Amino acid sequence: MISTKRAYNFNAGPSALPVEVLEKAQEELVNFNSSGMSIMEMSHRSKDYETVHNDAIARLKSLYAIPDNYEVLFLQGGASLQFTMVPMNFLKEDQTASYILTGSWSEKAIKEAKLFGQTREAASSKENAYRNIPAFEEIQFNETDAYVHLTSNNTIYGTAWNEFPKTGDIPLIADMSSDILSKPVDVSNFGVIYAGAQKNLGPSGVTVVIIRKDLIEKANTKIPTMLKYSTHADSNSLYNTPPTFGIYMLGEVLKWVEEKGGLDAIAKNNEEKAKVIYDVIDNSNGFYKGHATIESRSLMNITFRVTDEELEKQFLAEAKEAGFVGLNGHRSVGGCRASTYNAVPFEACKALADFMIAFQNKHQ
Ligand SMILES: Cc1ncc(COP(=O)(O)O)c(C=O)c1O
Repeated sequence: MISTKRAYNFNAGPSALPVEVLEKAQEELVNFNSSGMSIMEMSHRSKDYETVHNDAIARLKSLYAIPDNYEVLFLQGGASLQFTMVPMNFLKEDQTASYILTGSWSEKAIKEAKLFGQTREAASSKENAYRNIPAFEEIQFNETDAYVHLTSNNTIYGTAWNEFPKTGDIPLIADMSSDILSKPVDVSNFGVIYAGAQKNLGPSGVTVVIIRKDLIEKANTKIPTMLKYSTHADSNSLYNTPPTFGIYMLGEVLKWVEEKGGLDAIAKNNEEKAKVIYDVIDNSNGFYKGHATIESRSLMNITFRVTDEELEKQFLAEAKEAGFVGLNGHRSVGGCRASTYNAVPFEACKALADFMIAFQNKHQ
């Protein structure tokens, strides 16, 4: 239906959205549900909007089989505000929170926690240039910790947890910004899961928080109203005006995931997409070099170098010329990064793999 050619979009975030969702939004934009206005123009207290809002919550609950003792919240301020809200709500001055450091986003998260209480580096792969996820045996936390925090997928370094540590009675809190909705996850292992929407969930502007109800009840009370989880839980995320268009888009993305067969099917597709690119790296005889160790590789962000620095510049320039968007590594680490989120089609990954092979053949 779309007449323009879609780019091979490997942006790290904001990033590709399913074309079917964009087309549906386009169709409904001017006149949503025969209301004579767009979803952006109607009251967040209207019946039409309320249906969209509750439908998105219900779909997320169903896709992840979220147990009844959890709330789904739609907040603003990005994952970055969660770096603050988590310790503000759950860490008391005389308590310690454990953070597992696997990249820049975990560093930013622990920095905020230090403002509210004590912190412990439960494990860190910094000395290994964040190439790996620490082994379970390395992780040190305490039974008195307020919580243990980790980043499930490290967008900048291209690593991800395949399995999550068990923390028993201590709540495990995860920043899932860059791999939420990419595979099934047992929500009951977590106290809180949070994610900015702009990778796998929808446009930027919405932050999804999945949170255990008992933690909301036990949270600190002497904090600003808007920064209390309870404020949003008590009002079904309608305490103030929510980002209505973003939540509408999120609902449409969730429908799209359902139509694709749910999280199992999405995970399988993501594995196939990543494999086609990792295979090129692994079979390149060192021409391309992956940043992450093989067992810690992310299926969402594939980070690699062209071993020859001059050729790397040429690679990025030629790739851009050939229509591949967003392949430059994060400005803090350089190199190359292909972000292969849910909405990036297999064909785009295959086209990139073919391009990488052709580039190697031409320049080796
Ligand atoms: C893993 C991770 N955490 C946090 C953030 C920050 O998210 P936001 O820009 O929504 O605050 C990002 C952004 O890319 C991210 O990838």
